Amino acid sequence: MAAAEALAGVALALGLYALLYYNFIKGATCKNETSLRGKTVLITGGNTGIGKATALDLARRGARIILACRDRRRGESAVYDIRRESGNNEVLFMSLDLASFKSVRAFAASFLKSEPRLDILINNAGVGSGSRSSDGFNLVFQVNHLSHFLLTHLLLERMKQCAPSRVVVVASKAHQTGKIDFQNIHKPVGGHLAGFQSYCNSKLANILYTRELANRLEGTNVTCYAVHPGLVKSDFFRHISVWLKPLFLPICWLFFRDTTNGAQTSIYCATEEGIEKYSGRYFANCRLHDPKPHARDDAVAKKLWEVSERMAGLVN
Ligand SMILES: NC(=O)c1ccc[n+]([C@@H]2O[C@H](COP(=O)([O-])OP(=O)(O)OC[C@H]3O[C@@H](n4cnc5c(N)ncnc54)[C@H](OP(=O)(O)O)[C@@H]3O)[C@@H](O)[C@H]2O)c1
Ligand SMILES: *[C@@H]1O[C@H](CO)[C@@H](O)[C@H](O)[C@H]1NC(C)=O
Repeated sequence: MAAAEALAGVALALGLYALLYYNFIKGATCKNETSLRGKTVLITGGNTGIGKATALDLARRGARIILACRDRRRGESAVYDIRRESGNNEVLFMSLDLASFKSVRAFAASFLKSEPRLDILINNAGVGSGSRSSDGFNLVFQVNHLSHFLLTHLLLERMKQCAPSRVVVVASKAHQTGKIDFQNIHKPVGGHLAGFQSYCNSKLANILYTRELANRLEGTNVTCYAVHPGLVKSDFFRHISVWLKPLFLPICWLFFRDTTNGAQTSIYCATEEGIEKYSGRYFANCRLHDPKPHARDDAVAKKLWEVSERMAGLVN
């Protein structure tokens, strides 16, 4: 009797979890079969996590894929995996460290020299903590926003030549608790809490940047989209403090989606036909969403652009 009850209990729990999983955790799947034959995709931080899963899908669609990663060994091992799993040999590693403007500039120069096309740029790499970049800025802000701002700027002319082309910016729902405080956003911080706040700020910057970029790209047939991938079991949480791990890891394992599911909205924004009219907007679960009102403030977006131009050394 007790055994039967226990069994029924387990069955009920599994059933509830399955409901939860398919309705809330897994997320929507990108269903189009758009071919990317003849197109070139550049993805930052494609060596692991959401970026690697995105790169694999786009490689299966026949694109030439450049993984821009900071570590050669990890980058080349991802290239090997993606070639093997997709059967596409046009997957290449190129070195890019977003913590340094010098590296961004060197990367862009060598990319423009070796690659005649750029059809899809996916600004995916991101960090959730860290203090100071080699340029003296808040590391999280520089990697997640400033360096991608510079990178996109340096590659935009090539994207215009290849239009219709797209920029996909991997942002986050964490923008909701972000703030743009122009006096402090770029300053290095210490500690996990301040680091997390910097993360939220940088993800808000991603969404505002995408809005302003869309304005500036009007009429060029280059479009751009901000993405929330969902809560994803990636390497993103590798730096959380030891005392949080026993609590966090089971939650992550149960309630976060895997990287294939986490990549779906990036893939959607890179490939779905007919979304061009939504350039500058924010997507989650392969659908248009409205981010919080402070992420739709065009005056702040414009000022952030100008401040970013100065910080990235594009104007004095
Ligand atoms: N995971 C989530 O729940 C979640 C939720 C919302 C948004 N996001 C966003 O999704 C994006 C991808 O994150 P993920 O979850 O896939 O995390 P991940 O597994 O940690 O992957 C992050 C990628 O960024 C790269 N990267 C970090 N610093 C870099 C630098 N200085 N230069 C070049 N590349 C650098 C990493 O390279 P290394 O391997 O060398 O470190 C890695 O390839 C991020 O923008 C993140 O903000 C994630
Ligand atoms: C944009 O695309 C449309 C439709 O294909 C085309 O007619 C137009 O000339 C393109 N504009 C530019 C600037 O490439």
